Amino acid sequence: MVIFLEIITKQNIDDKISNIFKDKNTSFKYKYISNNEDETSFLAKTFAKYISIGDIITLKGDLGSGKTVFVKGIGNFFNIQEEISSPTFTIVNEYQTYNFTIYHFDVYRINDVSEFIYTVGDDYFSKGPCFIEWGEIIEEILPKNTIHIDFKKINDYSREIIIWRN
Ligand SMILES: Nc1ncnc2c1ncn2[C@@H]1O[C@H](COP(=O)(O)OP(=O)(O)O)[C@@H](O)[C@H]1O
Ligand SMILES: [Mg+2]
Repeated sequence: MVIFLEIITKQNIDDKISNIFKDKNTSFKYKYISNNEDETSFLAKTFAKYISIGDIITLKGDLGSGKTVFVKGIGNFFNIQEEISSPTFTIVNEYQTYNFTIYHFDVYRINDVSEFIYTVGDDYFSKGPCFIEWGEIIEEILPKNTIHIDFKKINDYSREIIIWRN
């Protein structure tokens, strides 16, 4: 199947993001250009409106490309008071909202799927929305309807953000 790349703009952002969550089996590929940190947060806040238990979202991209900024935007939408940072050493952080607990993973230090299963486990996937930085490391065990977000630095302020599902 051919998936056409669609551009997310300020005008269509809500439509496109809400569609991702309406039918969790559709394939899509969206491109969003963020010109500053606030625009990445805005994308995240739009996402946050629609997330629920069972949603798995991977965040991929070089260090400093904006993965944690995205999760901070999610936290901002839910009024999370605690400081959100990459859980590189703890692997997973939990943020409590009124509706559910959000799980924020950074699996950078995990070598492979068996290490992840042994040390962390996949029980979280059904407990609350999961945001997984460096999720490609555990690709094999991610459900088919996982939403992938790939961040690429264009320059100091701009990021190309590709959101896709196969
Ligand atoms: N358009 C942008 N979107 C996100 N972050 C940006 C943007 N422009 C500059 N930045 C900066 O890039 C850095 C991204 O850091 P962070 O989100 O921690 O990266 P990662 O988690 O991918 O390693 C922050 O210092 C942020 O201020
Ligand atoms: Mg990070």
